[in-house]
Amino acid sequence: MRKFINIADINKKDLRLIINNAKSRKDKRSGLNKNAIDPDAPLDGKILIMIFEKPSTRTRISFDIAVKQLGGKSLILNPDEIHYGTGNESLYDTAKILSQYADVVMLRTNAHKYAEQFSKYLDVPLINGLTDLSHPCQIMSDIMTFEELKGPIKNKKIAWLGDGNNIVYSLIEAAVQFDFELSIASPKSYEPNKNILQWAKKNNGNVLLTKDPLKAASDADCIMTDKWISMGEKINKNKKKKALKPYQVNKKIMNVANKDAIFMHCLPASRGEEVTNEVIDGRQSAVWLEALNRIHAQKSIIEWCLK
Ligand code: CP
Ligand code: NVA
Repeated sequence: MRKFINIADINKKDLRLIINNAKSRKDKRSGLNKNAIDPDAPLDGKILIMIFEKPSTRTRISFDIAVKQLGGKSLILNPDEIHYGTGNESLYDTAKILSQYADVVMLRTNAHKYAEQFSKYLDVPLINGLTDLSHPCQIMSDIMTFEELKGPIKNKKIAWLGDGNNIVYSLIEAAVQFDFELSIASPKSYEPNKNILQWAKKNNGNVLLTKDPLKAASDADCIMTDKWISMGEKINKNKKKKALKPYQVNKKIMNVANKDAIFMHCLPASRGEEVTNEVIDGRQSAVWLEALNRIHAQKSIIEWCLK
């Protein structure tokens, strides 16, 4: 049974198929209404159950629309309203119950380990909707968005500026799997974990870590960033923001990137912190398309899971 938890665990051929199928389904829908069902309705009679342990706007809505467009149904569960996580029912039993009702489960949770464990107990595929270590659905839609605007991502240069968080972890995995160059600029103490960088090195990834934001951004085809403080992070926020200040994506950064480089951000954003209004609202920004493509990339991920 398939699961979509780590980009690193899925072979390159399948990842490419997922992106190509997402593009092709999106093209075929041209002219259809947002909630119209794709003519082949591959999810007819099927149901996706989603559990969110953290807030979400994009993931929640885009999965719901994705399932509708595929002809299926989705159900969103709030952990406070079910036995899951309260101690009233073990994770194992909850997984067995959901396996009776759902064809696919999507989970947004805190600990990555928890998602891995939950998927072992489930008898249906699990899709990772964000953990402390990853956000694979986001990065798949970012690859799709990049290619829609700039062509094949292979050998292109992507720069990440800022916090070494869950989004950049999935981006590092993608750099290896999709063969692009990734330059990461993060300050001391906020770099991505060494294990993930070592994994990339072992797998011949072209991933560079620097403290210099201008060096990372130089000649890049895409500049990416994310909030400096992630959901639920219990840290000294002021100290972290101070350390990350030089990594803000602003005009100066965009000016050293390629002239036609794009700017991407998974959103939500803290405007004025990791990115200026001028950049996020500027002509190079791809953030709204990125959010839209969550629907299309996730449709393809769901289809892949059910094959
Ligand atoms: N990018 C993203 O996953 O956004 P949400 O937290 O709104 O789902
Ligand atoms: N790094 C952010 C991503 C939100 C989509 C967080 O985990 O809060």
